[in-house]
Amino acid sequence: MEPLILGIESSCDETAAAVIRGRTLLSDEIISSAALQAQYGGVVPELASRAHTDAVDEVVRRALDGAGVKKEELSAVAVTYGAGLLGALLVGLSFAKGLAFSLGIPLIGVDHIRGHLAAVYLEDPSLKPPFVTLLASGGHTAILYTESETQFEVLGGTLDDAAGEAFDKVARVLSLPYPGGPHVEALAREGSPSVPMPKMLKGMGGYDFSYSGLKTYIINYVHTMSERGASYSRADLACSFQHAALDILAEKVVEAAREKGTDTVTAGGGVIANGYLRDLLTAKCKEAGLRLVLPERRRCTDNAAMIASEGLIQYRAGNFSPLTLNAEPSIPLRRSGR
Ligand code: KG4
Ligand code: ZN
Repeated sequence: MEPLILGIESSCDETAAAVIRGRTLLSDEIISSAALQAQYGGVVPELASRAHTDAVDEVVRRALDGAGVKKEELSAVAVTYGAGLLGALLVGLSFAKGLAFSLGIPLIGVDHIRGHLAAVYLEDPSLKPPFVTLLASGGHTAILYTESETQFEVLGGTLDDAAGEAFDKVARVLSLPYPGGPHVEALAREGSPSVPMPKMLKGMGGYDFSYSGLKTYIINYVHTMSERGASYSRADLACSFQHAALDILAEKVVEAAREKGTDTVTAGGGVIANGYLRDLLTAKCKEAGLRLVLPERRRCTDNAAMIASEGLIQYRAGNFSPLTLNAEPSIPLRRSGR
């Protein structure tokens, strides 16, 4: 029988739990405090911790019930131990420790970003590295060469802001609600990419790129227009930004697949939920004769199924965590480890 893994995620504003049997997803539950946070224009750490404390028991019960399993049947508990908000992480981590201890089963601490990267295995359980991966979240944006389930090489990435961060900042300057990404995408759908964007973004060598110039350009554009009392299309600006920010990612990941001689491209992280990027990756990979495997949209943003998926990889590798495992607010992007 394949291992039965419970995943728990509480690094930011989603309290989530999911159960997988092998790479088959049995349940995937989220209780979000995003609507509450939106009233403050972003995540307030203390409110996030309190919301996790309220929700964690309920979300785990829902995940077990939804999967039709009893906690006594679990093989291991996988939980995000970092990166994220310290107080928020501690809620999920402490709950997972208590559960693993009481059941006498392994605790598996999962690096949140490795979780994002492992989401794709639930989409296609037969998927095997090597392949090239686009990672684009609120904290990271990079092109990776995934050598094995546990090891990757960083081919390049952002020199400053992450793509998701740029979306969030542009959303703020356009007075769109938190979280910004989906709102910028929705507004962009009503516009055209008619506003010229700075060239430097595409001028970077290798697989590196930069978002800070683009972000500053948008901020200055909005301020200048409003100072002059000039009218402009917010939708066109959002659409132009979206093209500039995402075209480069699709181009670079396809280029990397060619250079590395792989026939498969995967992706992970919140920005991969973006419909324009998904369509663009689909078109570019098709044109280049590459197979593209993307996690479902809801499994690109924070969820616990991806934590369970990475937990399974660590479970098979025998990488269990001690009950002294502590939360890590930041974890560097490392070739191997967790
Ligand atoms: O991966 P994620 O859920 O959290 C991190 O681990 O960082 O990513 C969140 C980021 C946010 O910056 C959010 O604005 C962005 O992903 N995002 C999007 C979309 N949905 C979420 N960006 C662009 N388009 C979207 N549809
Ligand atoms: Zn995330």
